[in-house]
Amino acid sequence: MSTEGVNNGRRRFLVASTSAIGAVGAVGAAVPFVASWNPSAKAKAAGAPVRADISKLEPGQQMIVEWRGKPVWVVRRTKEALANLEKLNDKVADPNSEKDQQPSYIPKTAQRSLKPEIAVMTGICTHLGCSPTYRPEVAPADLGDDWLGGFFCPCHGSKFDLSGRVYAGVPAPTNLVIPPHSYEGDNVLVIGIDPEGAA
Ligand code: FES
Repeated sequence: MSTEGVNNGRRRFLVASTSAIGAVGAVGAAVPFVASWNPSAKAKAAGAPVRADISKLEPGQQMIVEWRGKPVWVVRRTKEALANLEKLNDKVADPNSEKDQQPSYIPKTAQRSLKPEIAVMTGICTHLGCSPTYRPEVAPADLGDDWLGGFFCPCHGSKFDLSGRVYAGVPAPTNLVIPPHSYEGDNVLVIGIDPEGAA
C-alpha cells in the first residue's frame, strides 16, 4: 500500500504498522511517530487483532493501521470536522448507515464511531477497491467550495465524508466499511476485537 496518496503533500499524517496483540512495541523513526510492531507471519495470516497507540494522534491527523492485509484508517477529527458532519446529511447517500457496512455496536449516526472524535474505517473504496485519499481540508480548489473534508477516490471520483459516508451520485454504492474494533483504555485501539459485551 502506498502512503504517498494518503499524505498527498498537504497534511500531516501518520503511518503505523502494527501488530498482533501481545507483541512488544518498538518505536520507529518515521514522521512524526511510528508504532512499529511486527507480528509473526503466522499471526498475520490468521488475521490476528492488531493494536495501535492513538495517544499521539493529533486533531486532524490520520494514521494507517494494517489489519488482515487491508489499510484501516484512524482519524482524530477536529471539533470543526465533527460539527460539519451533520451538515452533510443531505449530501450523503446513506446518512444513517442503513446498509450493512459496520458492526452493530457502531452508532448509526453522522459520526459512525465509538469515540466521537476517532473515526475508524477500512480505507478501500466500495466501488472497485482503490484507496481513497485523505482530504480533510475545507473547500480546496479541486474539490469545490462545499467540500467539508473527507476522502476522495482518485480512480473514478467517489467522495466520502470524514465518517466514511459515501456522497450521493458517485460510483461507490455504499459507505466505507468499519471493521470490528474496541479500545483498551483511552489510547489503545484494538482492531479485530469487539467491545466487551457487544452483541
Ligand atoms: S474505485 Fe473508487 S471510485 Fe472507483
